[in-house]
Amino acid sequence: MKVAGQSMRSIWLEADGVGVGIIDQMRLPFELRTQRLITVEEAAHAIRAMLVRGAPLIGATAAYGMALAVRADPSDAAIAHASELLLATRPTAVNLRWAVEDLRTLLQQTPAERRVEAAYRRAGEIAEADIAMNRAIAGHGLPLISQALARKADKTRVDVLTHCNAGWLATVDWGTALAPIYLAHDEGVPVHVWVDETRPRNQGASLTAWELGQHGVPHTVIADNAGGHLMQRGRVDLCIVGTDRTTVTGDVANKIGTYLKALAAHDNGVPFYVALPSPTVDWSLADGRAIPIEERNADEVSEIAGRLDSGEIARVRVIPDGSAAANYAFDVTPAKYVTALITERGVCAASREGLLSLFPERWARP
Ligand code: MRU
Repeated sequence: MKVAGQSMRSIWLEADGVGVGIIDQMRLPFELRTQRLITVEEAAHAIRAMLVRGAPLIGATAAYGMALAVRADPSDAAIAHASELLLATRPTAVNLRWAVEDLRTLLQQTPAERRVEAAYRRAGEIAEADIAMNRAIAGHGLPLISQALARKADKTRVDVLTHCNAGWLATVDWGTALAPIYLAHDEGVPVHVWVDETRPRNQGASLTAWELGQHGVPHTVIADNAGGHLMQRGRVDLCIVGTDRTTVTGDVANKIGTYLKALAAHDNGVPFYVALPSPTVDWSLADGRAIPIEERNADEVSEIAGRLDSGEIARVRVIPDGSAAANYAFDVTPAKYVTALITERGVCAASREGLLSLFPERWARP
């Protein structure tokens, strides 16, 4: 997608073929700063501290992290250590486990002297595959936006509500939930996005608003609590969100607050779509209540980050001294509230039958 008119990705292999470039998403929307990762420890830190975040980008960063690890030490012990280090960074996005296990299996089957080349190649393939899957999601999701517009009496604007950031910053490029929105915009569909701010870390206000703005997509940031009101007033035509892990039965873990939006959408007859590439499906889980929910530092709730008039980026406290705070990072929306899943192979019901109709090769493997 575009930043100041130039195409950009969220992660890339640097020109020397060794370092891995990322955008430090902690600095957005105020400053576009890139960083070079050259060790697996730096890759793990980038995931843990959320310089990179979003399920597919966490997966791609972990894959490159494995490559950086074997570059330093191609031994079996180093591969095992790197896997443990990366898997411990964040618990909810299943793409992390998927990418680490993919690389670990590949490397264990590769002679030590060829591991570095094999790991970089595979990490690059994972990044390219993510882009291809997201581009396909864009194509499958576009008709849902066009049809929502066609159903309206007023054809001047179709309003999509999204939560958190499931745009290109959360993936390698295109995004998941935002991919159909970018394609609709590029094809001249008059799409407008209601952007949930997404407390506590404000990924909507900071990241979704920034990337939509850079690409020229009309959008409005709203307080998280405004979505239900807008849906009651008929001002949301459809919701599209991403996911960090979706069970084989269609239960959807996504950023905290997604469940409440799904309930409001259900109550108001607003279609609620979840966009996901297949590495985000946990084919081994049937019950969303078994998805591990990350609990992060309470400081993210008791404080808020922003830019002062001086230009300095600062954190300020927003709750009384002495009050306890808790920070649950994700919630699970039961499949019954999900209108459909938008995958790289097409749109399906949020159910085992729906997913397996698009991914029949998964019948054999639980
Ligand atoms: O905590 P984050 O910022 O990593 O959470 C990101 C989300 O919840 C996204 O909605 C999800 O990963 C889908 S990304 C395409």
